Amino acid sequence: MDRRDFIVNAASVSALSAVASMAHTASAGMQGASSSTAKGADDGLGSNTITIGVIGCGGRGSGAAVNAIEASPDTRIIALADLFPDRLASARTGLAQQGDRLAVPESSCFWGFDAYQKVLATGCDVVILATPPAFRPGHLEAAIAAGKNVFMEKPVAVDPAGIRKVLAACRAAKERGLSVVAGTQRRHEACYQQAMDRIHAGVIGRPIAARCFWNMGGLWSVAPQSGRSDVENQLRNWLYYTWLSGDHIVEQHVHNIDVVNWAFLAHPIRCVAVGGRQSRTDPLYGNIFDHFGVDFEYPGNRFALSMARQWEGTPGRVSEFIYGSEGTASLNSGACSIDSKDPWSFSGKQVNPYVQEHMDLIAAIQSGHPVNEGEQVAFSTLSAIMARMAAYSGQVVTWEEALASPLDLMPSPLEFGPLPVSAVAIPGRG
Ligand SMILES: NC(=O)c1ccc[n+]([C@@H]2O[C@H](COP(=O)([O-])OP(=O)(O)OC[C@H]3O[C@@H](n4cnc5c(N)ncnc54)[C@H](O)[C@@H]3O)[C@@H](O)[C@H]2O)c1
Repeated sequence: MDRRDFIVNAASVSALSAVASMAHTASAGMQGASSSTAKGADDGLGSNTITIGVIGCGGRGSGAAVNAIEASPDTRIIALADLFPDRLASARTGLAQQGDRLAVPESSCFWGFDAYQKVLATGCDVVILATPPAFRPGHLEAAIAAGKNVFMEKPVAVDPAGIRKVLAACRAAKERGLSVVAGTQRRHEACYQQAMDRIHAGVIGRPIAARCFWNMGGLWSVAPQSGRSDVENQLRNWLYYTWLSGDHIVEQHVHNIDVVNWAFLAHPIRCVAVGGRQSRTDPLYGNIFDHFGVDFEYPGNRFALSMARQWEGTPGRVSEFIYGSEGTASLNSGACSIDSKDPWSFSGKQVNPYVQEHMDLIAAIQSGHPVNEGEQVAFSTLSAIMARMAAYSGQVVTWEEALASPLDLMPSPLEFGPLPVSAVAIPGRG
C-alpha cells in the first residue's frame, strides 16, 4: 500500500484513533505514487498527513495555503515555489508566523521559472497553483504528469492554446484518479449551491436570460523599475498585460460568467462585445482594457448580458441575476435570493468558501472519490476569453472559433529580457 492509498483508506476506517496509532507503523518504507520522499519517523509527518506544495506564493497562494490548513487537521504545507526570491522569502516568513503546519524549511523553498518542477519533485500530495494565469496550463500539465492532486486558482488560462492544454491535463487527471479543484469559490459556497439547486429544480421556471457584473474601482499596480528587464517589470505588474492575466474580463469576471454557465448548465455558443480603455490610459496599466460589455448567446435561444469594468470613482457591483419564465434569482456572495411563487432567501450558516473548496478537495482525496472541476472552469475561462476576443476584434466570435483558435500569447522563449508591450487592441483593425 503506498502513501496515497493509505490516505484514501484511512478515511474509510471509522475509528480514527486506530488510524492514528497505525500511522507510524504504516509509514515505514512507504512511498507515495508521486513521492520522492517517504513520510517517516523523523520528518514529523504522519502517514495520513496530506502534504501540500504551493506554486506562486503571492496574495492568493499564501491565502490558499492558510485556507488548506484551516480545512483539515491532516494538512501540512511542505514546499514553496515562486518566480522571485523576495516574494518567496516574504511568503515563507508570513506563513511560518501562522503556525508550525505552515513553516517550510528553506531547503524546500525554490525560486525561478523552474521552481515549480522542484516542488513537484518533493513528494507532496497536493499542489496549489496560484501564479498569474498565463502559467497555469503548463504547471497543471506538469502537476498531473507528476501524479499530484491540484487546487488551481482561476482563471486557468489566458488563451485558447492554454485552454486546450488544461482540458487535456484534466482528462489525464481523470484517467489517473487525481482530483482537480478550481478557485471558482462560489461553486463551494452554500448560498450559491442552495440557489442553484432551486434554479435547477425549476423554481424560477425555465432560465432564459441572465445579467452578470464585475464593476469596481482600481487594483494594485507595480511601477516599472530601471534595472529590471521588460519581462520582470511586466511579471511584477502582471494584471495589466493580456499575455499574463488575460485582461480583467478573464482574470476577474470569469467568476460571474462561471455562475451564469452553472445556472444555464451550458457554455455560450457565440458572443458580441464592446470594450475599450477610457479612464485608465497610463502606460503603467499595460495594454488591457478598462471596460467590457458582452452579449452572450446560449443554446436554446437564451442570452446573458455581462459587464466588467475597473473605473476609479464609480460604484461597484459584483453579482448575477438569472431570469426564468416564472421568477428571478439574485445571486451575490452570502446573499442569494429567489423571487417566484416559492420565494426564498439564504439564511443558513456558511463556511468560508475559500476554506470549503479545500475541505472538498481533501474529502475527495481521503474518500478515494476524486473530484474534477477542470473542464467546468476551463469552459468558463474560455467563455471569458471568447468575449475578450470579440471585444478586441469587434467581430462575433463563436465557441468553435474560440476553442480552435491558434492564439497563444506566451512569449517564446520566455526569459528575463526585452519585451515590448503589445499595442492596445483597436476593434476593427486586425
Ligand atoms: N479566487 C479568488 O477570489 C482569487 C482572488 C485573488 C486572486 N486570484 C487568482 O490567483 C492567482 C494569483 O493572484 P494573486 O492575487 O495571488 O497574485 P500575486 O501577484 O499576489 O501572486 C502571484 C505570485 O506568483 C508568482 N509568480 C509569477 N510567475 C511565476 C512563475 N512562473 N512561477 C512561480 N511563481 C510565479 C509571483 O512572483 C507572485 O508572487 C491569479 O490567477 C488570480 O486571478 C483568485
